[in-house]
Amino acid sequence: MILAKLGKLASLGVSRHMRNMYLEPFYLPSRHFNKRALGNIPEFVRIVEVGPRDGLQNEKQIVPSHVKVKLIQMLISSGLSVVEATSFVSPKWVPQLADAKDVMEAIRNIGGARFPVLTPNLKGFEAAVAAGAKEVAIFASASESFSKSNINCSIEDSLRRYRDVASAARELSIPVRGYISCVVGCPTEGAVPPSQVAYVAKELYDMGCFDISLGDTIGVGTPGTIVPMLEEVIDVVPVQNLAVHFHDTYGQALSNILVSLQMGISTVDSSVSGLGGCPYAKGASGNVATEDVVYMLNGLGVKTNVDLKMLMMAGDFICKHLGRSSGSKTAVALSKVPAHASKL
Ligand code: HMG
Ligand code: MG
Repeated sequence: MILAKLGKLASLGVSRHMRNMYLEPFYLPSRHFNKRALGNIPEFVRIVEVGPRDGLQNEKQIVPSHVKVKLIQMLISSGLSVVEATSFVSPKWVPQLADAKDVMEAIRNIGGARFPVLTPNLKGFEAAVAAGAKEVAIFASASESFSKSNINCSIEDSLRRYRDVASAARELSIPVRGYISCVVGCPTEGAVPPSQVAYVAKELYDMGCFDISLGDTIGVGTPGTIVPMLEEVIDVVPVQNLAVHFHDTYGQALSNILVSLQMGISTVDSSVSGLGGCPYAKGASGNVATEDVVYMLNGLGVKTNVDLKMLMMAGDFICKHLGRSSGSKTAVALSKVPAHASKL
Protein backbone atom coordinates (compact mmCIF):
# COMPACT_ATOMS: atom_id res chain seq x y z
CA MET A 1 0.00 0.00 0.00
CA ILE A 2 2.84 2.38 0.87
CA LEU A 3 4.67 1.53 -2.35
CA ALA A 4 1.45 2.05 -4.38
CA LYS A 5 0.96 5.45 -2.76
CA LEU A 6 4.59 6.39 -3.43
CA GLY A 7 4.29 5.27 -7.06
CA LYS A 8 1.15 7.35 -7.54
CA LEU A 9 2.82 10.43 -6.10
CA ALA A 10 5.85 9.86 -8.36
CA SER A 11 3.62 9.57 -11.43
CA LEU A 12 2.04 12.90 -10.45
CA GLY A 13 5.50 14.46 -10.55
CA VAL A 14 5.72 14.97 -6.76
CA SER A 15 9.39 15.32 -5.78
CA ARG A 16 11.13 12.56 -3.87
CA HIS A 17 11.50 14.77 -0.79
CA MET A 18 7.79 15.58 -0.71
CA ARG A 19 6.90 11.91 -1.35
CA ASN A 20 8.92 11.00 1.71
CA MET A 21 7.02 13.49 3.78
CA TYR A 22 3.71 11.99 2.67
CA LEU A 23 4.71 8.76 4.37
CA GLU A 24 4.59 10.30 7.82
CA PRO A 25 0.90 9.46 8.52
CA PHE A 26 1.76 5.74 8.29
CA TYR A 27 3.44 6.11 11.65
CA LEU A 28 0.28 7.31 13.35
CA PRO A 29 -1.47 4.83 15.66
CA SER A 30 -3.65 2.64 13.45
CA ARG A 31 -6.07 1.57 16.15
CA HIS A 32 -7.55 2.99 19.28
CA PHE A 33 -5.36 1.95 22.17
CA ASN A 34 -6.11 2.04 25.84
CA LYS A 35 -4.81 5.42 26.95
CA ARG A 36 -5.56 4.66 30.59
CA ALA A 37 -2.26 2.82 30.72
CA LEU A 38 -0.59 6.20 30.17
CA GLY A 39 -2.47 7.91 32.99
CA ASN A 40 -4.40 11.10 32.63
CA ILE A 41 -2.71 12.59 29.55
CA PRO A 42 -4.59 15.53 28.02
CA GLU A 43 -6.44 15.29 24.70
CA PHE A 44 -4.95 18.56 23.47
CA VAL A 45 -1.52 20.03 24.12
CA ARG A 46 -0.75 23.69 23.50
CA ILE A 47 2.74 24.07 22.12
CA VAL A 48 4.58 27.31 22.83
CA GLU A 49 7.16 27.65 20.07
CA VAL A 50 10.24 29.39 21.45
CA GLY A 51 12.62 28.96 18.49
CA PRO A 52 12.73 32.58 17.33
CA ARG A 53 13.61 33.70 20.88
CA ASP A 54 15.27 30.89 22.85
CA GLY A 55 16.65 29.40 19.64
CA LEU A 56 18.12 32.45 18.02
CA GLN A 57 19.32 34.20 21.21
CA ASN A 58 22.15 31.70 21.40
CA GLU A 59 23.34 31.73 17.81
CA LYS A 60 26.84 32.99 17.15
CA GLN A 61 25.77 34.68 13.96
CA ILE A 62 23.24 37.49 14.03
CA VAL A 63 20.22 36.39 12.01
CA PRO A 64 18.77 39.24 9.90
CA SER A 65 15.36 40.51 10.99
CA HIS A 66 13.67 39.55 7.70
CA VAL A 67 14.78 35.92 8.18
CA LYS A 68 13.36 35.93 11.72
CA VAL A 69 10.07 37.35 10.43
CA LYS A 70 9.86 34.74 7.65
CA LEU A 71 10.57 31.99 10.19
CA ILE A 72 7.79 33.26 12.45
CA GLN A 73 5.38 33.37 9.50
CA MET A 74 6.24 29.79 8.52
CA LEU A 75 5.80 28.60 12.11
CA ILE A 76 2.34 30.16 12.26
CA SER A 77 1.45 28.59 8.91
CA SER A 78 2.20 25.19 10.43
CA GLY A 79 -0.62 25.76 12.93
CA LEU A 80 1.36 26.92 15.97
CA SER A 81 -0.80 29.39 17.87
CA VAL A 82 1.86 30.78 20.23
CA VAL A 83 5.26 31.82 18.90
CA GLU A 84 7.60 33.57 21.30
CA ALA A 85 9.01 36.17 18.97
CA THR A 86 11.94 37.96 20.63
CA SER A 87 13.18 39.64 23.84
CA PHE A 88 13.25 43.27 24.87
CA VAL A 89 16.43 42.81 26.88
CA SER A 90 19.68 44.75 26.92
CA PRO A 91 21.35 44.51 23.49
CA LYS A 92 24.68 44.46 25.33
CA TRP A 93 23.63 41.23 27.05
CA VAL A 94 21.93 39.57 24.08
CA PRO A 95 23.06 41.22 20.82
CA GLN A 96 21.32 38.52 18.76
CA LEU A 97 17.94 40.02 19.68
CA ALA A 98 18.87 43.69 19.40
CA ASP A 99 16.35 44.01 16.55
CA ALA A 100 13.38 43.18 18.83
CA LYS A 101 11.56 46.37 17.85
CA ASP A 102 11.87 45.70 14.11
CA VAL A 103 10.75 42.08 14.44
CA MET A 104 7.78 42.97 16.64
CA GLU A 105 6.68 45.79 14.37
CA ALA A 106 6.80 43.46 11.36
CA ILE A 107 4.60 40.79 12.95
CA ARG A 108 2.32 42.81 15.22
CA ASN A 109 -0.62 42.73 12.81
CA ILE A 110 -0.44 39.07 11.85
CA GLY A 111 -3.65 37.45 13.05
CA GLY A 112 -4.38 33.99 14.36
CA ALA A 113 -1.43 33.65 16.74
CA ARG A 114 0.01 35.14 19.90
CA PHE A 115 3.55 36.53 20.05
CA PRO A 116 4.80 36.81 23.63
CA VAL A 117 8.13 38.56 24.16
CA LEU A 118 10.55 38.51 27.08
CA THR A 119 10.74 41.63 29.24
CA PRO A 120 13.26 41.70 32.15
CA ASN A 121 12.15 45.05 33.59
CA LEU A 122 9.86 48.05 33.08
CA LYS A 123 12.17 49.48 30.42
CA GLY A 124 11.80 46.31 28.35
CA PHE A 125 8.06 46.16 29.02
CA GLU A 126 7.51 49.73 27.82
CA ALA A 127 9.60 49.15 24.69
CA ALA A 128 7.70 45.94 23.95
CA VAL A 129 4.30 47.60 24.29
CA ALA A 130 5.42 50.54 22.13
CA ALA A 131 6.46 48.07 19.41
CA GLY A 132 3.05 46.38 19.52
CA ALA A 133 3.51 43.43 21.91
CA LYS A 134 0.21 42.15 23.28
CA GLU A 135 1.68 39.52 25.61
CA VAL A 136 4.89 39.48 27.63
CA ALA A 137 6.94 37.05 29.68
CA ILE A 138 9.04 37.69 32.76
CA PHE A 139 11.84 35.32 33.68
CA ALA A 140 12.99 34.45 37.17
CA SER A 141 15.22 31.68 38.44
CA ALA A 142 15.09 29.09 41.20
CA SER A 143 18.85 29.44 41.67
CA GLU A 144 20.54 32.55 43.09
CA SER A 145 23.69 32.17 41.00
CA PHE A 146 21.78 31.79 37.76
CA SER A 147 19.60 34.80 38.59
CA LYS A 148 22.76 36.84 39.04
CA SER A 149 24.42 35.63 35.84
CA ASN A 150 21.28 35.88 33.70
CA ILE A 151 19.65 39.10 34.88
CA ASN A 152 22.26 40.58 37.21
CA CYS A 153 20.20 40.55 40.39
CA SER A 154 19.09 38.30 43.25
CA ILE A 155 15.87 36.27 43.10
CA GLU A 156 14.15 38.66 45.53
CA ASP A 157 15.23 41.74 43.55
CA SER A 158 13.96 40.12 40.36
CA LEU A 159 10.59 39.38 41.97
CA ARG A 160 10.33 43.03 43.04
CA ARG A 161 11.04 44.17 39.47
CA TYR A 162 8.60 41.67 38.06
CA ARG A 163 5.83 42.85 40.39
CA ASP A 164 6.21 46.28 38.77
CA VAL A 165 6.06 44.75 35.28
CA ALA A 166 3.05 42.61 36.21
CA SER A 167 1.16 45.56 37.63
CA ALA A 168 1.93 47.75 34.57
CA ALA A 169 0.73 44.87 32.38
CA ARG A 170 -2.46 44.46 34.40
CA GLU A 171 -3.34 48.12 33.80
CA LEU A 172 -3.11 47.52 30.05
CA SER A 173 -4.80 44.07 30.25
CA ILE A 174 -1.65 42.47 28.86
CA PRO A 175 -1.25 38.80 29.85
CA VAL A 176 2.02 37.91 31.54
CA ARG A 177 3.72 34.54 31.37
CA GLY A 178 6.30 33.68 34.03
CA TYR A 179 9.40 31.56 33.54
CA ILE A 180 11.45 29.85 36.19
CA SER A 181 14.94 28.71 35.18
CA CYS A 182 17.02 25.96 36.75
CA VAL A 183 14.04 24.02 38.11
CA VAL A 184 16.10 20.92 38.79
CA GLY A 185 19.72 21.91 38.32
CA CYS A 186 21.91 25.00 38.13
CA PRO A 187 25.25 25.19 36.27
CA THR A 188 26.93 26.58 39.41
CA GLU A 189 24.93 25.32 42.38
CA GLY A 190 24.07 21.81 41.19
CA ALA A 191 20.81 20.29 42.42
CA VAL A 192 18.04 22.81 43.10
CA PRO A 193 15.51 21.94 45.84
CA PRO A 194 11.89 21.59 44.63
CA SER A 195 10.77 23.83 47.52
CA GLN A 196 12.75 26.71 45.99
CA VAL A 197 10.97 26.22 42.63
CA ALA A 198 7.59 26.05 44.37
CA TYR A 199 8.37 29.29 46.22
CA VAL A 200 9.19 31.23 43.02
CA ALA A 201 6.23 29.65 41.17
CA LYS A 202 3.80 30.80 43.87
CA GLU A 203 5.25 34.32 43.81
CA LEU A 204 4.81 34.52 40.02
CA TYR A 205 1.30 33.11 40.25
CA ASP A 206 0.37 35.57 42.99
CA MET A 207 1.59 38.51 40.91
CA GLY A 208 -0.81 37.44 38.15
CA CYS A 209 1.11 35.21 35.71
CA PHE A 210 -1.47 33.15 33.81
CA ASP A 211 1.09 30.54 32.82
CA ILE A 212 4.27 29.55 34.64
CA SER A 213 6.82 27.75 32.52
CA LEU A 214 9.19 25.49 34.44
CA GLY A 215 12.56 25.51 32.71
CA ASP A 216 15.21 22.83 32.90
CA THR A 217 17.68 25.36 31.54
CA ILE A 218 20.66 23.02 31.32
CA GLY A 219 18.69 19.90 30.46
CA VAL A 220 19.91 17.76 33.35
CA GLY A 221 16.51 16.55 34.60
CA THR A 222 15.15 13.04 34.33
CA PRO A 223 11.67 11.84 35.31
CA GLY A 224 13.35 11.00 38.65
CA THR A 225 13.92 14.69 39.40
CA ILE A 226 11.11 16.25 37.35
CA VAL A 227 8.30 14.34 39.13
CA PRO A 228 9.22 15.44 42.69
CA MET A 229 9.71 19.03 41.48
CA LEU A 230 6.29 19.04 39.78
CA GLU A 231 4.64 17.50 42.85
CA GLU A 232 5.79 20.44 45.01
CA VAL A 233 4.85 23.07 42.43
CA ILE A 234 1.41 21.56 41.78
CA ASP A 235 0.74 21.82 45.52
CA VAL A 236 0.90 25.64 45.29
CA VAL A 237 -0.07 26.52 41.67
CA PRO A 238 -3.00 24.99 39.75
CA VAL A 239 -1.69 22.51 37.20
CA GLN A 240 -3.59 24.21 34.37
CA ASN A 241 -1.40 27.30 34.93
CA LEU A 242 1.84 25.37 34.48
CA ALA A 243 3.96 24.65 31.42
CA VAL A 244 7.19 22.72 30.95
CA HIS A 245 10.30 23.91 29.11
CA PHE A 246 12.98 21.32 28.56
CA HIS A 247 16.40 21.69 27.04
CA ASP A 248 17.61 18.38 25.71
CA THR A 249 21.27 18.25 26.76
CA TYR A 250 21.05 14.67 28.05
CA GLY A 251 18.33 13.46 25.68
CA GLN A 252 15.75 13.34 28.48
CA ALA A 253 13.30 15.95 27.23
CA LEU A 254 10.65 13.68 25.66
CA SER A 255 10.51 11.39 28.67
CA ASN A 256 10.26 14.44 30.90
CA ILE A 257 7.43 15.79 28.77
CA LEU A 258 5.58 12.48 28.93
CA VAL A 259 5.68 12.34 32.73
CA SER A 260 4.63 16.00 32.89
CA LEU A 261 1.59 15.22 30.71
CA GLN A 262 0.78 12.27 32.93
CA MET A 263 0.76 14.68 35.87
CA GLY A 264 -1.77 16.95 34.14
CA ILE A 265 0.40 19.55 32.37
CA SER A 266 -0.97 20.49 28.96
CA THR A 267 1.35 23.29 27.78
CA VAL A 268 4.77 22.39 26.40
CA ASP A 269 7.51 24.74 25.17
CA SER A 270 9.74 23.61 22.32
CA SER A 271 11.89 24.98 19.57
CA VAL A 272 11.80 24.19 15.86
CA SER A 273 14.76 22.00 14.85
CA GLY A 274 15.86 21.92 18.49
CA LEU A 275 17.49 25.35 18.20
CA GLY A 276 18.37 27.08 21.38
CA GLY A 277 20.19 27.45 24.63
CA CYS A 278 20.82 30.22 27.06
CA PRO A 279 23.89 32.44 26.60
CA TYR A 280 24.25 32.43 30.41
CA ALA A 281 24.04 28.63 30.84
CA LYS A 282 27.28 27.28 29.36
CA GLY A 283 27.07 23.79 27.91
CA ALA A 284 23.27 23.73 27.77
CA SER A 285 22.00 22.45 24.46
CA GLY A 286 18.92 23.43 22.49
CA ASN A 287 15.32 23.08 23.52
CA VAL A 288 13.51 19.87 22.72
CA ALA A 289 12.67 19.99 19.00
CA THR A 290 9.07 20.92 18.20
CA GLU A 291 9.01 18.31 15.41
CA ASP A 292 9.90 15.58 17.94
CA VAL A 293 7.22 16.76 20.38
CA VAL A 294 4.57 16.82 17.63
CA TYR A 295 5.64 13.37 16.40
CA MET A 296 5.34 11.92 19.92
CA LEU A 297 1.98 13.59 20.53
CA ASN A 298 0.67 12.40 17.14
CA GLY A 299 1.73 8.91 18.15
CA LEU A 300 -0.20 9.26 21.40
CA GLY A 301 -3.28 10.54 19.56
CA VAL A 302 -2.96 13.89 21.39
CA LYS A 303 -4.07 16.86 19.28
CA THR A 304 -1.83 19.89 18.73
CA ASN A 305 -3.28 21.45 15.54
CA VAL A 306 0.27 21.50 14.15
CA ASP A 307 0.99 20.20 10.66
CA LEU A 308 4.27 18.32 10.92
CA LYS A 309 5.16 18.72 7.24
CA MET A 310 4.72 22.50 7.34
CA LEU A 311 6.67 22.63 10.59
CA MET A 312 9.51 20.70 8.98
CA MET A 313 9.58 23.22 6.15
CA ALA A 314 10.05 26.00 8.72
CA GLY A 315 12.84 23.97 10.32
CA ASP A 316 14.44 23.37 6.95
CA PHE A 317 14.30 27.08 6.18
CA ILE A 318 16.09 28.19 9.35
CA CYS A 319 18.63 25.33 9.30
CA LYS A 320 19.58 26.21 5.71
CA HIS A 321 20.00 29.81 6.76
CA LEU A 322 22.20 28.83 9.72
CA GLY A 323 24.11 26.34 7.57
CA ARG A 324 23.55 23.35 9.81
CA SER A 325 21.55 20.15 9.97
CA SER A 326 18.38 19.86 12.01
CA GLY A 327 18.58 19.00 15.69
CA SER A 328 15.25 17.19 15.36
CA LYS A 329 15.51 13.42 15.10
CA THR A 330 12.03 13.36 13.54
CA ALA A 331 12.99 15.84 10.82
CA VAL A 332 16.15 13.88 10.03
CA ALA A 333 14.34 10.51 10.01
CA LEU A 334 11.41 11.67 7.90
CA SER A 335 13.75 12.98 5.25
CA LYS A 336 15.07 9.42 4.87
CA VAL A 337 11.78 7.63 5.28
CA PRO A 338 11.89 5.09 2.39
CA ALA A 339 14.49 3.15 4.38
CA HIS A 340 12.05 2.97 7.29
CA ALA A 341 9.08 2.18 5.05
CA SER A 342 10.82 -0.92 3.66
CA LYS A 343 10.97 -2.30 7.20
CA LEU A 344 7.26 -1.81 7.92
P1 HMG B 1 22.01 45.46 34.00
O1 HMG B 1 23.31 45.73 33.31
O2 HMG B 1 22.05 45.08 35.43
O3 HMG B 1 20.98 46.66 33.81
O4 HMG B 1 21.25 44.36 33.17
P2 HMG B 1 21.00 48.17 34.14
O5 HMG B 1 19.62 48.52 34.61
O6 HMG B 1 22.16 48.52 35.03
O7 HMG B 1 21.23 48.81 32.70
C1 HMG B 1 22.44 48.65 31.98
C2 HMG B 1 22.22 49.08 30.55
O8 HMG B 1 21.23 48.24 29.92
C3 HMG B 1 21.67 50.48 30.44
O9 HMG B 1 22.16 51.01 29.21
C4 HMG B 1 20.18 50.29 30.33
O10 HMG B 1 19.53 51.35 29.68
C5 HMG B 1 20.12 49.03 29.47
P3 HMG B 1 23.48 51.95 29.16
O11 HMG B 1 23.13 53.11 30.06
O12 HMG B 1 24.62 51.13 29.70
O13 HMG B 1 23.60 52.28 27.72
N1 HMG B 1 18.89 48.27 29.67
C6 HMG B 1 18.11 47.85 28.67
N2 HMG B 1 18.20 48.01 27.33
C7 HMG B 1 17.22 47.48 26.57
N3 HMG B 1 16.18 46.78 27.10
C8 HMG B 1 16.07 46.60 28.42
C9 HMG B 1 17.08 47.16 29.26
N4 HMG B 1 17.24 47.16 30.59
C10 HMG B 1 18.37 47.84 30.83
N5 HMG B 1 15.04 45.90 28.90
C11 HMG B 1 19.27 43.24 32.43
C12 HMG B 1 19.99 43.85 33.61
C13 HMG B 1 18.10 42.47 33.00
C14 HMG B 1 18.78 44.36 31.53
C15 HMG B 1 20.25 42.34 31.66
O14 HMG B 1 20.82 41.44 32.57
C16 HMG B 1 19.59 41.57 30.57
O15 HMG B 1 19.14 42.13 29.58
N6 HMG B 1 19.51 40.22 30.72
C17 HMG B 1 18.82 39.38 29.74
C18 HMG B 1 19.45 38.03 29.71
C19 HMG B 1 18.68 37.14 28.78
O16 HMG B 1 17.94 37.59 27.92
N7 HMG B 1 18.86 35.81 28.97
C20 HMG B 1 18.23 34.84 28.15
C21 HMG B 1 16.74 34.72 28.39
S1 HMG B 1 16.32 33.74 29.81
C22 HMG B 1 16.38 32.12 29.23
O17 HMG B 1 16.82 31.88 28.14
C23 HMG B 1 15.80 31.04 30.08
C24 HMG B 1 14.42 30.55 29.57
O18 HMG B 1 14.49 30.09 28.24
C25 HMG B 1 13.89 29.43 30.47
C26 HMG B 1 14.92 28.32 30.69
O19 HMG B 1 15.39 27.70 29.70
O20 HMG B 1 15.24 28.10 31.85
C27 HMG B 1 13.40 31.70 29.63
MG1 MG C 1 15.17 28.12 27.62
